[in-house]
Amino acid sequence: MNPESGGECCITVRRAGPLEGEVVVPGAKNSVLKLMAASLMADGVFEITNVPAIADVGIMSELLCAIGVTINRPNVDTLMISNSGELTPVAPYELVERIRASINVLGPLLTRCGHVRLSLPGGDDFGARPIDMHVAGLEAMGTTFKFSHGYLEAYADRLHGADITFDFPSVGATENLLTAAVLADGVTTIDNAAREPEIIDLCDFLIKMGARIDGVGTSHLTIEGVRPGELHACDHETVADRIQAATYIAACAVAGGELTLLNAQPRHMDMVLARLRDMGLDLEPLPFGLRVASCERMRSIDVATLPYPGIATDYKPLIITMLSVASGVGIVTENLYPGRFRYVEELQRLVVDFR
Ligand code: UD1
Repeated sequence: MNPESGGECCITVRRAGPLEGEVVVPGAKNSVLKLMAASLMADGVFEITNVPAIADVGIMSELLCAIGVTINRPNVDTLMISNSGELTPVAPYELVERIRASINVLGPLLTRCGHVRLSLPGGDDFGARPIDMHVAGLEAMGTTFKFSHGYLEAYADRLHGADITFDFPSVGATENLLTAAVLADGVTTIDNAAREPEIIDLCDFLIKMGARIDGVGTSHLTIEGVRPGELHACDHETVADRIQAATYIAACAVAGGELTLLNAQPRHMDMVLARLRDMGLDLEPLPFGLRVASCERMRSIDVATLPYPGIATDYKPLIITMLSVASGVGIVTENLYPGRFRYVEELQRLVVDFR
């Protein structure tokens, strides 16, 4: 609540800069929510650290608690998740509709409990987000689906391995099939798998739990199923958020100045850093993060979003904001989510020239 806004909830931004100093990049939203969902797969107490202070962690916690785990947060960046194995594989509408990542309980619950009742997922408001690839892959592994009244019901007495080839490297579908395959009978291969750093983080987490996964970090994953008793709880530090790191870079780019981004992982951002250097930013990888300096007016570039290691669609609002104060004309092409341009109308209200 901002007193200057007459009681309405809003953020007032005043022109400032240049920016100077250090900022810590926390763990990735797009990883921690998936790690939390994967904790449904084994009994015991998981400790997940480097947890970001974001609302979605609270919503995912509520969802997992409704399913049957207990979660404590001894400090803001740590989650202790206790799984006794007494799970009710039902994910209610009120929670699922609030975050897209709730779809990630599908694979773990199905493989652990043999059935799931899940409200169809909501999340960000940028167009239809189908789950046909999740469904087709799980069907190939022996699942039967029923859809009615906005709910999905899935049944599989015991999943079996399958050879799955995606026609597009979907992040969510890769994660759901990966988790399902960990406890399936036999070997599953996923070809044209997504290979985002957050998928590598999930693979590392599952391997610590006792999963057998080959090809981590590549687009061909091979998963050899294990018995449920072979998985156990583990401790894990969430990978740094490359989108948040890019957000700080964009702030520095627009306001000018020099920032040190502690814990940023420049090796996860090769392509975007190369393109931001093309715009004139000074970006230097450090042993403990990344330094960004912006001293002159940026130049425009053309950018197209692509699956990793291409430019992530999540960077696009940042890049468009940077382009709006750069010299020249830049063309931005979205290849993942056609509706993901809504903020452009808001930028236009700040008198940016979009042709
Ligand atoms: C995740 C990220 C999101 C990011 C996106 C792409 C989370 C919570 N969200 O979303 O921030 O923008 O990756 O990097 O991790 N598709 C289908 N059928 C499917 C699945 C996906 O057609 O069954 C399409 C989607 O509509 C979209 C594209 O594939 O056009 C990418 O989707 P996907 O990679 O699955 O993204 P998410 O996991 O939803």
